[in-house]
Amino acid sequence: MKSVLTAAGSLRRLRPGRALRSGLPALLPLLLVVAAACGDDHLTRFPQSTFAPATEMAEEQMFLFHLTMWMGIAVGLLTFGLMAWILWKFRYRPGGPEAQQFHGNTTLEIAWTLLPALIVAVIAVFTVRAIFITQPEPPANALNVRVIGKQWWWEFQYPVGKDTIVTANEIHVPVGQPVQLLLESDNVLHSFWVPQMAGKRDLITNRVNRLIFTPREPGVYMGQCAEFCGDSHALMKMRLIAHTPEGFRQWLENEARPAVEPTDSASAVAVGKKLVTQGVCAGCHVIKGTPMVGRTGPVLTHFGRRRTLAAGILENNAENLRQWVRNAPSVKPGSKMPQLGGDIPNGLTEEQITYIVAYLQSLQ
Ligand code: CUA
Repeated sequence: MKSVLTAAGSLRRLRPGRALRSGLPALLPLLLVVAAACGDDHLTRFPQSTFAPATEMAEEQMFLFHLTMWMGIAVGLLTFGLMAWILWKFRYRPGGPEAQQFHGNTTLEIAWTLLPALIVAVIAVFTVRAIFITQPEPPANALNVRVIGKQWWWEFQYPVGKDTIVTANEIHVPVGQPVQLLLESDNVLHSFWVPQMAGKRDLITNRVNRLIFTPREPGVYMGQCAEFCGDSHALMKMRLIAHTPEGFRQWLENEARPAVEPTDSASAVAVGKKLVTQGVCAGCHVIKGTPMVGRTGPVLTHFGRRRTLAAGILENNAENLRQWVRNAPSVKPGSKMPQLGGDIPNGLTEEQITYIVAYLQSLQ
């Protein structure tokens, strides 16, 4: 009895005002994060945000999220509010009357069975609608792109007539036309995720998953592998670049061409070409228009046009490219591209790396 009284006494001492004063400083950082996420520049600060849907599919998924979140908040507030009120109203008072003894309340029990069933039914209706919107039949005018998950980068294949245009890590699409991605993997599981376009969808070895969405606004949309796939899973980024239809046509036309030839056979670019196409790079990469046939690494035919390298983690500039060619695993742990220069025996010299970088950058 004594311990119960002590507990009641200490509860009384804990006034709501005091609890708030001690709790607020702890909550402040959280509130700041929430406030920052709501600002106008939130896409600049969080370019991979799920809260800026840019397709019908992403909007539908966002709607479902908001619906379930607000229903959950309402149910939570109602439940905990009622509980707090009951705890307060029927709290222990010394000398108070004995609690009323009764068994069950049929009305209440029917109500708290029906209400959740109704809530779940509402969610089910909108979920079924979302399933139809996120798994549509491929439209006849869809642009098909094969997406192959690699360790740890993305290959994109565009069938154009009898030809297949192959590129990596930056997927280009037109606006206003449905895009059908045919997702597969040649190794482990990956997950394609460009949040502003659509939710995650897995790339699996023994089946082709589809993802269909229609980009609306030209722009660059950030993405990332969303299924743990090994050492450099967190470094498996990508960019989706949405063009105007004309811009996309130009991009595709350029991609279909073989690699540009060095204009001056004595230039650094020409020396670099020889090193790349006849040297160690040839075993793993393809550059259309040269004898290179390796299929382990990304196709490099128009590598100089890509904004990034190493699956979107580095800006494509001379300095980063040097570092990558010299020692790829130092940038990306587990990379299949080995260390080629630096402190290894018979590696590439710094001068050779300069030529290789010059050639790769010329591949526009
Ligand atoms: Cu690929 Cu994670």
